[in-house]
Amino acid sequence: MASNRKLLVLPGDGIGPEVVREVLRVVDWMAKKRSVSFELQEGLAGGASYDLHGTPLTDETMADAVDADAVLFGSVGGPKYDDLPFELKPERGLLRLRKEMDLFANLRPAMVFDAMADSSSLKKEFVSGLDILILRELTGGIYFAEPRGIELLPDGTKKGYDTNLYTTPEIERIGRVAIDMARKRRGKITSVEKSNVMMSGVLWREVMTDLFAAEAQDLETEHMYADNCGMQLVRNPKQFDVIVTDNLFGDMLSDCAAMLTGSLGMLPSASLGAVDETTGKRHALYEPVHGSAPDIAGKSLANPIAELLSFSMALRYSFDMSDDADMIDAAIERVLATGKRTADIMQDGMTAVSTEGMMDSILGELDKAV
Ligand code: IPM
Ligand code: MG
Repeated sequence: MASNRKLLVLPGDGIGPEVVREVLRVVDWMAKKRSVSFELQEGLAGGASYDLHGTPLTDETMADAVDADAVLFGSVGGPKYDDLPFELKPERGLLRLRKEMDLFANLRPAMVFDAMADSSSLKKEFVSGLDILILRELTGGIYFAEPRGIELLPDGTKKGYDTNLYTTPEIERIGRVAIDMARKRRGKITSVEKSNVMMSGVLWREVMTDLFAAEAQDLETEHMYADNCGMQLVRNPKQFDVIVTDNLFGDMLSDCAAMLTGSLGMLPSASLGAVDETTGKRHALYEPVHGSAPDIAGKSLANPIAELLSFSMALRYSFDMSDDADMIDAAIERVLATGKRTADIMQDGMTAVSTEGMMDSILGELDKAV
């Protein structure tokens, strides 16, 4: 079937290939039951690419990613690669994709499914109904800025250093995404930095303040130090709607927010580039927030829901298929409500299912929905 939906699939390492394989069953289901087809291409990333090609991402795969309408990513990394030189580590493949596709806006929703409110490390009343969005700047800051390095000092010791650097346009463009997202949600933005200690933080607050004054008068906006934000996330997470922050703080705060929801195995993310004025398209990569979990890889224990929700985000943000995304999200809700649980979210009285078993149930619910 002809299709103009090019999806590059990069399963990666660890549990990545297992959860991606399950999601491809849904892609298949959509072709059969909804007559929606994707032009699928599969590639290697991370350790899997290193094993075959000696690099965590080949130039060919990089070009395929730029050419695709969306990339569905699994996860990368594992202890097998711990001793590789820094530039060859599996994570470098992912960072190259983010940088060269210019995926500056990383959306990490943290929501608590009704059926899961008991599994949070916080009391149920603090998290039930929780729905926040961490918007992380993804192509700047300390992850990429120069200078960085490890150097030998005259006394024989070494110094290791990184640079946290943001420019006005970089802060403005992520700020505008926050404004756009908050307008579609509950209308509140919390901009997070450490302007009490960092110059990049002083600029971040200054630029966000000006931007909000000029373009977000209709929204509730506030500024918060990153350490306080970490504390507030565990104290009273429901005070937040959209949290916009830099690359490093976003990395940490999104893990913290993810844990509040009861399982890292349930959370998707989208990394988006700017919309091209002429084509209306944007580069995009979708990946679960969980990592490669090498300890459970190959045991059918992984939860495929985060990867499936990542695909659902791809339907929403890259393919303009919100109805299908809603249908998938609802099927997941219903399966959770029937008590099916993979190991990571297992609780007393629930039914344990494998990675495949979870997807069997979701496909069963999807069948009922059409
Ligand atoms: C994440 C991960 C990555 C990051 C790693 C795998 C490079 O922790 O996506 O949050 O630090 O950005
Ligand atoms: Mg992280």
